Amino acid sequence: MIEIVEEAPHHHAVVADLLRAAFGGGYEAELVDRLRREDLVAGALVALQDGEVVGHEMFSPRSVEVDGRPVNAVSLAPVAVRPDCQRRGIGSRLIREGIEAMRSEGRAAIIVVGHPGY
Ligand SMILES: CC(C)(COP(=O)(O)OP(=O)(O)OC[C@H]1O[C@@H](n2cnc3c(N)ncnc32)[C@H](O)[C@@H]1OP(=O)(O)O)[C@@H](O)C(=O)NCCC(=O)NCCS
Repeated sequence: MIEIVEEAPHHHAVVADLLRAAFGGGYEAELVDRLRREDLVAGALVALQDGEVVGHEMFSPRSVEVDGRPVNAVSLAPVAVRPDCQRRGIGSRLIREGIEAMRSEGRAAIIVVGHPGY
């Protein structure tokens, strides 16, 4: 069973391993660590499968202007699912629940940079 919950400090080490495995390098794990250290996390969720972390996503605040007006936005990066658990809908669930969480906190927009399909 997959459960989506807020990230907690005891998830950090396994999230770093997951990010290195999913991206094949250390850049994203360092990014996530830096966002935490600089207090730039607007939200972070983990996907748990039988209590084990198999997915992760992070949102950070982003200043955006639309027609000259500030918009209360966040950016979504990174999102990752453990390689052996991909293509089973976990990434989609993380993103949907993340969108709901950001909406309920009053965020008006989410910026995603990447491939249009993603
Ligand atoms: C991208 C990622 C988070 C998707 O997670 P997932 O649990 O495998 O995704 P889902 O099973 O929910 O699939 C969601 C959709 O993405 C598509 N998809 C998943 N992985 C894909 C890939 N590698 N290439 C192209 N499309 C992909 C699926 O086909 C599905 O679309 P559909 O519903 O129209 O068929 C996961 O593949 C991953 O961790 N990739 C490595 C890290 C990465 O690139 N992150 C995104 C940039 S921050």
